[in-house]
Amino acid sequence: MLSPTNAGGQRPAVFGGALGSGALSIALQAVTAAMVLMLLLASGAPSLQRPTSIGRDTADVAAARQRAAGAGASPCTWTPYLLPPEAHQWALGAAREKVVTLVHPMRRHLTAQLAAGVLLQGIDGDFVETGVFTGGTSIIMLQALEKYDPWQTRRHWAADSFQGLPPPEDEDRGGILAEGKPGQFTIGREVFLANVRKWNITGLDARLRILEGWFNETLPGAPIHSISFLRLDGDLYASTMDALEALYDKVSPGGIVYVDDYGSFTGCRRAVDEFRQRRGITGPLMLQGMPDQLFNEPPAAAKWEAAWWVKGPC
Ligand SMILES: C[S@@+](CC[C@H](N)C(=O)[O-])C[C@H]1O[C@@H](n2cnc3c(N)ncnc32)[C@H](O)[C@@H]1O
Ligand SMILES: *[C@@H]1O[C@H](CO)[C@@H](O)[C@H](O)[C@H]1NC(C)=O
Ligand SMILES: *[C@@H]1O[C@H](CO)[C@@H](O)[C@H](O)[C@H]1NC(C)=O
Repeated sequence: MLSPTNAGGQRPAVFGGALGSGALSIALQAVTAAMVLMLLLASGAPSLQRPTSIGRDTADVAAARQRAAGAGASPCTWTPYLLPPEAHQWALGAAREKVVTLVHPMRRHLTAQLAAGVLLQGIDGDFVETGVFTGGTSIIMLQALEKYDPWQTRRHWAADSFQGLPPPEDEDRGGILAEGKPGQFTIGREVFLANVRKWNITGLDARLRILEGWFNETLPGAPIHSISFLRLDGDLYASTMDALEALYDKVSPGGIVYVDDYGSFTGCRRAVDEFRQRRGITGPLMLQGMPDQLFNEPPAAAKWEAAWWVKGPC
């Protein structure tokens, strides 16, 4: 019903090409006017008035189209509260399972919610975890795939040196949060795999892909096409930045980037802040609160830990 010339200068693609747009526009305006007239007659309006609201509606439609095309700020407002009750129950159960992990149950809960969320929304792409250690959170991500991707259309990529952290660099130092130590969190690939296998996940061999080595060497060339859930857990500046540089562009619109160490490691937080600023990412960074008693760190550091955002446009 809307005249393409009124739609904020944006002509719907279906009208493009060979048709003379001027004549078409006049024809559409005539059709619009005729329909307004018919509506007014049908409603028994006593007198014909100029339909002033049409111009305003058209501008709204144009703005909505621009937002949908990714121009301007995209709100990306999905939250775990939108999960259906059954998925809430599942995520709570997954967080309570006794997996071997460094990750607190609250962050396991959030991991499960976000994993279920992207799958239930049908966001395109695989799961990736950079920094899997003993496998705890990778197990939760694989269980989300087992439950909400029953036809095994997606993979879970598990990236780790299996030699622990690389040496921290200048960017990791001088803050109030942890700095990390070379070789910290070392665990063998076979321990990771044995832990994962204990959970008898259906189709594990089809889903799981291990990327062994330093992120700067394994991630840039990894044959990952698209990502719905990117879970960063590498603690350090370079480990976080290498993963974002190599993988962020593969995250689908509506996909989620979760950063486990944003509130606990200085370098990790710096990498995320720098990357978001450099890329002009304005979608809100969601911060997960945590129980105060967990760490004896300065109160400012202990208020929250994990952070996540939805990649736009949504
Ligand atoms: C805190 S642990 C991950 C915790 C894990 N997600 C869990 O559920 O317990 C950090 C892991 O990241 C790995 N890592 C950190 N930086 C890395 C890098 N640059 N390249 C490869 N692995 C890295 C370490 O080997 C370690 O296993
Ligand atoms: C990748 O990172 C590791 C660990 O910090 C380092 O030893 C290695 O030299 C880096 N490789 C490249 C190609 O930069
Ligand atoms: C996995 O399967 C084995 C063998 O059937 C069983 O003993 C074990 O309890 C199962 N593990 C879980 C977590 O269900």
